[in-house]
Amino acid sequence: MSVAAVLVAAGRGERAGGGIPKQYRPVAGIPILERSLNALLAHQGIDRVIPVIHPDDHAHYDTIAARVSDNRLAVPVHGGSTRAESVQASLTALTTEEPTKVLIHDAARPFLSLAVIDRLIEALDRFDGAFPAIPVADALWRQDDGLIPVERDHLLRAQTPQAFRFEKIVEAHRMGDADATDDVAVALAAGLSVTPVAGEEANFKITHPEDFEKADRMAAPPPDIRTGIGYDVHAFEPGSSVTLCGVEIPHDRRLKGHSDADVAMHALTDAIYGALAEGDIGQWFPPSEAEWKGARSSLFLEHAMGRVADRGFRVSNFDVVIVAERPKIGPHAQAMRLRLAEITGVSMDRISVKATTSERLGFVGREEGIAAEAVATLVGT
Ligand code: CTP
Ligand code: MG
Repeated sequence: MSVAAVLVAAGRGERAGGGIPKQYRPVAGIPILERSLNALLAHQGIDRVIPVIHPDDHAHYDTIAARVSDNRLAVPVHGGSTRAESVQASLTALTTEEPTKVLIHDAARPFLSLAVIDRLIEALDRFDGAFPAIPVADALWRQDDGLIPVERDHLLRAQTPQAFRFEKIVEAHRMGDADATDDVAVALAAGLSVTPVAGEEANFKITHPEDFEKADRMAAPPPDIRTGIGYDVHAFEPGSSVTLCGVEIPHDRRLKGHSDADVAMHALTDAIYGALAEGDIGQWFPPSEAEWKGARSSLFLEHAMGRVADRGFRVSNFDVVIVAERPKIGPHAQAMRLRLAEITGVSMDRISVKATTSERLGFVGREEGIAAEAVATLVGT
């Protein structure tokens, strides 16, 4: 028992416009025909794929075939002036192989899934033919002499591949007319048993110019989204102010540390390095090197933002939590968001700064120091 697939690609793509026939135009960088070819070859139950192309398109086709190394791919056959003629040409080419089942697929449907192929092959154990279909959900009207409602119950939109027991469809085509809309029409006219199976919206046919945009969106890789976490603690020492998120707040102590000891900005900077999996502040700016002694923490944050840009990311959002018993952070939170926005170039509505006390518990509760945590989420551009 064997399964063959025919990929009809001999059309001219008149409705799609745009120079070369639509099946050879790229969607997210890969030609549509290459995508539909690979969708068929991805199914291990398919033993042979017969492409049907226009005699003028060999150069386009050969470029794609050279990239597809799969010995199930047959040499292309030439199609005719109608889709039905193109299908017939492929069936004739297949007669020497005599597969048990054949799937006839439009090259213009690049998003065919393995699940749809599974359902079709399986249905052919019980029926002569099967095709993927989607029930019509919209209200339907026929515009004639006025508008006439069309009962949509039981109406189906047919997709491809349309699948058949090989001998039956060959016989049906022999009897059928070359102008039939599709192979299901040919099969039904010849009295074959045909069943719909569940189709998929994604398996749509690229037909009009605007369909390319939709296809590009569907084929685009999912965005690379990364989240990093940062945590830092600095102890108090005698002094008169603390600097948090770049804002100086009068206090009866200061934070001890190499630089300005901006514990909150350090946590945020480490969150960014974390999202990039690029270590932490200590690795980029070793405290052992005198150069960084007393450096403003904004220097570290600017560096981390430089890495974000260099690695091709943008910031989705920052969230910073300062854990301190005193001084009160709330009145300064807006100024902190503004300062972080100035340093990073990220808009304020993507930057959150909030604070909590530690309920007098632990080192924060005893006012021995301040802790800060931050989360940074980056999106690949
Ligand atoms: N097809 C074919 N031979 C034809 C006509 C169509 O192999 N003589 C193929 C197309 O290449 C396409 C599929 O049948 O993969 C579905 O047809 P359609 O979407 O109508 O494509 P085109 O005929 O190329 O487009 P248009 O009708 O807009 O010219
Ligand atoms: Mg057509």
